[in-house]
Amino acid sequence: MNIKGGIIIFKNKTEKEAREEILQLVREYADKYHKPVEYHRGDKISYASRVYDCEEMVNLVDSSLEFWLTSGRYTDSFEKKLAKYLNIKYCSFVNSGSSANLLAFMALTSPLLEDRQILPGDEVITVAAGFPTTVAPIIQYGAVPVFIDVTIPQYNIDVNQLEDASSDKTKALIIAHTLGNPFNLEYITKFCKEHDLWLIEDNCDALGSKYVIDNEEKFTGTIGDIGTSSFYPPHHMTTGEGGAVYTNNPLLNRIIRSLRDWGRDCQCSSGEDNFCGNRFTQKYGKLPVGYDHKYVYSHFGYNLKATDMQAAVGCAQIDKFPSFVEKRKKNFNRIKDGLQGLEDKLILPEAEPNSDPSWFGFLITTKENNRNRIVQYLEDNNIQTRMLFAGNIIKHPCFDQIRDSNKYRVVGDLENTDKIMNNTFWIGVYPGMTNEKIDYMIEKIREAVE
Ligand SMILES: Cc1ncc(COP(=O)(O)O)c(C=O)c1O
Repeated sequence: MNIKGGIIIFKNKTEKEAREEILQLVREYADKYHKPVEYHRGDKISYASRVYDCEEMVNLVDSSLEFWLTSGRYTDSFEKKLAKYLNIKYCSFVNSGSSANLLAFMALTSPLLEDRQILPGDEVITVAAGFPTTVAPIIQYGAVPVFIDVTIPQYNIDVNQLEDASSDKTKALIIAHTLGNPFNLEYITKFCKEHDLWLIEDNCDALGSKYVIDNEEKFTGTIGDIGTSSFYPPHHMTTGEGGAVYTNNPLLNRIIRSLRDWGRDCQCSSGEDNFCGNRFTQKYGKLPVGYDHKYVYSHFGYNLKATDMQAAVGCAQIDKFPSFVEKRKKNFNRIKDGLQGLEDKLILPEAEPNSDPSWFGFLITTKENNRNRIVQYLEDNNIQTRMLFAGNIIKHPCFDQIRDSNKYRVVGDLENTDKIMNNTFWIGVYPGMTNEKIDYMIEKIREAVE
């Protein structure tokens, strides 16, 4: 019971009425205090930001009033909405994109996959120009990442090096669609089929991107065996912390769910009992017959679930999502048009053939070694810039203990990867960007270059 100005607000109200009243106040609060800030020339231009309105906040408070806290009805609804958007069968909400990648990779180490199970010492082809947690699970498990170069200006895996990279130990490919630009899925899916390899699409920076394969346009993340998403605030949509793992393969889905939820065999949701109807009748491993299925473990798992409050925010974001994608594309094209004529100084990004990218950012590579000077000029003018994450992950201190060991393998000289580390940066295209901000960025890039 709350007191406002001496009046007991909820005295004669049902719980439903009280909740509606609170949510109406939240709606008004969000409309008044969370309005997008008006931009004035010279104000800071972020590379990314959350784009939301009162709906996200209403859902968040609604979920918190229920106080279920762990995954519940909003999680269920968000998983269904995301699966429907992507046109995929199974979707699992998790607590980050890094957890999604961990889960996707570890799913492929499940004994349930029999001879296709990835074992320690097996090889996984990937790239060094990207985000560290695409690669980290491979090393943590004791498998061997095999790094090959990328192409510029697509910034994706160079498929011409795949044959050289593969060996009789190769079991999978794990690669990201760099900053929204789909990699060559046609070549790679064919390569995976021919060599009996798994494909994990790290879709964390590419939600909403599409690719035409076998005459059908599909969302990236749904073409390989498993796709992953991140909903960390700068990403295409946000739940605060959050991520998702999706697949069309029922066995992989079962393994993903098991690993996400402590390694358990049972598929009951939080708070649910005896979904399978065989809770006390089966025999598992060396356990006595009838041991409670709720506490039977088929994997060495984790707990990577997110909360229902995060899912509640996601439910409101996914409804707006198609408009976010369109805005990202529009912003990307405006920047690209505005930088025409600078091709002797800058390499501008290009979409992969047969693709329709939902861009995460606008990548620029300098032709001369003046990236740092240009970036400094933009930052001095309040334009936020970003590197292509690790640049070359192998050069980072996390590799010091395993440098030049057999814990990883490099194919070729990674010339473009090093070029990205030295000469590449990116600026934002997020849906909160306005034409005024974009034109200011173009003006400052031109000044910096010229
Ligand atoms: C390609 C890629 N994969 C994975 C991640 C990890 O996502 P999260 O920050 O949600 O852990 C990121 C993060 O930005 C990313 O860019």
